[in-house]
Amino acid sequence: MATKLFFLLYFTSTIILCLMASQINSSTLETDTHALVEIKRAIDPNSVSPSSYLNSWDFTMDPCESTGSQFLGILCNLPLDNSSSRVVALDLDSIGYDGFLAPAIGNLTELTVLNLDKNNFRGPIPQTISNLRKLIRLTLSENFFTGPIPLGISALKNLQHLDVSFNRLSGSIPTNISGLRSLTYMSLSNNAFAGGVPDLKGLWQLQTIDLSINQFYGDIPNLPISLRKIYFNHNIFSGHMTPLKGLKMLKWLDISDNRLSGAISKDIISLKGIVHLNVSYNRFTALEVINYSLEGPMLQVLEAQGNHLRGHLPLNLVTLKNLTNVNLANNQFYGIIPNEYGTKVMTSWRKLYLEYNFLTGNLPPEFALQTNIRGSLANNCLQCPPNIVLCHGPQRPATECVGNHQTP
Ligand SMILES: *[C@@H]1O[C@H](CO)[C@@H](O)[C@H](O)[C@H]1NC(C)=O
Ligand SMILES: *[C@@H]1O[C@H](CO)[C@@H](O)[C@H](O)[C@H]1NC(C)=O
Ligand SMILES: *[C@@H]1O[C@H](CO)[C@@H](O)[C@H](O)[C@H]1NC(C)=O
Ligand SMILES: *[C@@H]1O[C@H](CO)[C@@H](O)[C@H](O)[C@H]1NC(C)=O
Ligand SMILES: *[C@@H]1O[C@H](CO)[C@@H](O)[C@H](O)[C@H]1NC(C)=O
Ligand SMILES: *[C@@H]1O[C@H](CO)[C@@H](O)[C@H](O)[C@H]1NC(C)=O
Ligand SMILES: *[C@@H]1O[C@H](CO)[C@@H](O)[C@H](O)[C@H]1NC(C)=O
Repeated sequence: MATKLFFLLYFTSTIILCLMASQINSSTLETDTHALVEIKRAIDPNSVSPSSYLNSWDFTMDPCESTGSQFLGILCNLPLDNSSSRVVALDLDSIGYDGFLAPAIGNLTELTVLNLDKNNFRGPIPQTISNLRKLIRLTLSENFFTGPIPLGISALKNLQHLDVSFNRLSGSIPTNISGLRSLTYMSLSNNAFAGGVPDLKGLWQLQTIDLSINQFYGDIPNLPISLRKIYFNHNIFSGHMTPLKGLKMLKWLDISDNRLSGAISKDIISLKGIVHLNVSYNRFTALEVINYSLEGPMLQVLEAQGNHLRGHLPLNLVTLKNLTNVNLANNQFYGIIPNEYGTKVMTSWRKLYLEYNFLTGNLPPEFALQTNIRGSLANNCLQCPPNIVLCHGPQRPATECVGNHQTP
């Protein structure tokens, strides 16, 4: 919604220019009009409701010369000479259009915006999309598009925003996608993409990458240091976190639900700007936390449940000043809960999940006082008085608690 408003504002000047253009008798380039006809023709008329934008496309009138109530969803530019007007934006309403995206789309070569989100488009993304060299924004999310991303997409040198999330797309990422030099946002999430991810370092302006909920596998690729947000959750990535360590601008990292192994590296936790780190449900075996009392990583959320983390609970967690949510449940931590955790539970920590480990001993006394915190200590080997809220739930049977530090 916000982005649509933005583009309405952005193009207001273009609309005015378009009205001026009609006074100098320019009309829409014939191939553009023809492309619009084809685009409408490829959509089931039963899905074009009376109040929809497409219903206002009445080709008895010139698309770019029509006044406000017709040809909703398109914007035209001003020809500086006697040449014809061109369509520069196609921004349809999300009303459930059912049909295909006509290959004629590739003839709207002045398009800067193509937005078809939240409809029922199906079939492939036409190859001809690679002719849209001026495209800045391509949004096809929440449809039923199938097939691969057209290889020629790398030709779209001006593309800044690419969102094909929530479709049924498959195949892998074209290896020369790094050609998209202007890209700042890329979401391929919730599709059926698979395969290894190519080196993406060339996308030097990319700030957000969302590959979540697909079947990408292999190592985490090389990524550009411009990245702020990474969503790689729910794929089949394996190997170590190493390729992530130089990403100085990173704020948000979700690599949960993959097959990553090795250490949850101190190089990641130490990134100055990182606020949210979700490494849950992987195969990590170590959590490296150093003493941060002199530095200031901003980490607020550390989610690391469902790994194979071993050893004692990391004492240095208490030196992360901004930390509020800690989830280390479902691991193989053993030994006592450090007394320093008690102070944190009294002050800044809001969530603490430690269930399903092999923790032993008595709780820090503050755990008995604290009422504000949410979390769980269930299924450990603790001396856990029942009146402590976090203790609710079963304890491990004594047999599991004996020699637990040798368990796998
Ligand atoms: C535009 O068309 C109108 C009528 O069709 C005509 O009178 C006018 O001279 C034309 N203007 C230009 C600039 O060609
Ligand atoms: C526009 O068309 C008119 C009439 O055809 C012509 O006299 C004029 O020179 C043209 N102007 C430009 C900028 O091409
Ligand atoms: C694009 O326009 C050209 C020229 O008008 C036309 O021949 C061609 O069929 C159009 N392409 C599509 C896919 O409609
Ligand atoms: C990307 O690769 C495809 C297929 O190999 C090719 O058709 C296309 O021209 C390439 N694009 C660039 C910008 O190199
Ligand atoms: C972390 O990832 C897991 C698995 O993808 C998810 O269930 C959980 O909600 C995430 N945690 C946060 C705080 O987003
Ligand atoms: C971290 O280092 C500071 C300063 O060197 C020290 O005072 C503090 O006790 C250390 N904290 C932990 C948890 O080791
Ligand atoms: C981290 O905490 C400091 C104070 O300890 C605060 O000034 C800063 O705004 C916090 N950062 C974030 C991202 O919340």
